[in-house]
Amino acid sequence: GGRRLPPCFLFGAKKLRAFFDLLPFLGDKTGQTKKKFPQVWTFAEKRDRIRYKLYTIIHFVFYHLGGICMSVPKIRHTMEKMAFTPRGQRKSSATCDPVIRMCWNENQLGMSEKAKAAMAAALEKSNYYPDFYAVALKDRIGEVYGLTRDNVFTAGGSSAVIDAIGAVYLEEGDEVLYCSPTFGAYWDMATANGAVPVEVPLTKEMRYDLDGLYQAITARTKIIVICNPNNPTGTAVGADQLAAFVKKVPEEILIMVDEAYIEYADDPDVHSAVPLILEGYHVLVLKTFSKIHGMAGIRVGYGLACPEIIDDLMRSPGAFNTSTVAIAGAIASLGDRDFLSRSYQMVKDGRDYLTRELEQLGCKVYPSQTSFLYFDAHMDPQDLQAECAKRNILIGAFALSRVSVGNKAQNAAFISCLREILPAAR
Ligand SMILES: Cc1ncc(COP(=O)(O)O)c(C=O)c1O
Repeated sequence: GGRRLPPCFLFGAKKLRAFFDLLPFLGDKTGQTKKKFPQVWTFAEKRDRIRYKLYTIIHFVFYHLGGICMSVPKIRHTMEKMAFTPRGQRKSSATCDPVIRMCWNENQLGMSEKAKAAMAAALEKSNYYPDFYAVALKDRIGEVYGLTRDNVFTAGGSSAVIDAIGAVYLEEGDEVLYCSPTFGAYWDMATANGAVPVEVPLTKEMRYDLDGLYQAITARTKIIVICNPNNPTGTAVGADQLAAFVKKVPEEILIMVDEAYIEYADDPDVHSAVPLILEGYHVLVLKTFSKIHGMAGIRVGYGLACPEIIDDLMRSPGAFNTSTVAIAGAIASLGDRDFLSRSYQMVKDGRDYLTRELEQLGCKVYPSQTSFLYFDAHMDPQDLQAECAKRNILIGAFALSRVSVGNKAQNAAFISCLREILPAAR
């Protein structure tokens, strides 16, 4: 949980909290009046307002008379409702040099030269604010998918789109349903907004369990997330299977399909859920420029959905933050087919090479449709991660190990590192 107030303060606060929760005369407890007259304060609003006023007075007394230094109660009061997400607790990130970074599924080919040139030109105009609505980028994205700008929401990476979805839709007690293990941002999205993450295990083959998800739906389910293909396992759900699932889920549930890696898929059954948006289903597709476009450091991603959902997302705090540089780079990269196909080919070749070599080393490798491989080296994943790190190669450690596909030299370096580690460990 969040940090607590000093004990002297908490003592008063706890008692006050209990006291105010008992006062029935403060107003509309059921929320019925609020529905009719939104301007009328509910019981909870009135209680919080009075509670806050008293906190302020108590704080003033302690701070000025007792000389006790504590932060402003209004801020603390709000913050206490939020837990630190695992990412929020991190104090530093992996560094680039001299290590080989095969832990975050970054694109080791670099980035499109056309995108770089467009961004350099955009830099010259960056003393001016960007087009807050990112219209040119939305139009270009719309063209790619046969949608319009009204179907597109852009933000600083698809993580920021996930944050926006949580901020506008989730309320205390709502359930967010997804399979586990998966990308950590869905857990963050739920817990940061007081919702409950409900995790259904992946199947034995490490695939998304759509039947399991369907059975786990309750009256409180607000969002279902399908990471397709899934991170960290690399497995994907076929488009027909996904469509059948979407069609039977009740309409009031939003289905979020995270397609961060789908451009790397080579299984003909695996393709985007965007056609379901065109058919009018309650689907929101997440896309990013961080993976196949190689622009992770630029921070640009987007969500695709019906205009009503996009309008909702435009109410979120981060809705107008796509920079001029990001907009120019993203537009140029979408037009660089040659770079995108080289990006795809590098990953596909690397994936085949790593799969072969890992299997030769006795590892179980799960079939991947992404730019990383999930594998069982029959060794504790944390230990394997630590041993690789000693040799300057960073990889991921979950229930099993995950390695991002690198360029030829990086892949070879990783395999020779495993040739050293694995025989000694077994
Ligand atoms: C499944 C998935 N979704 C989304 C993201 C977030 O990407 P970004 O915020 O860089 O767009 C990642 C990043 O690793 C991911 O693995």
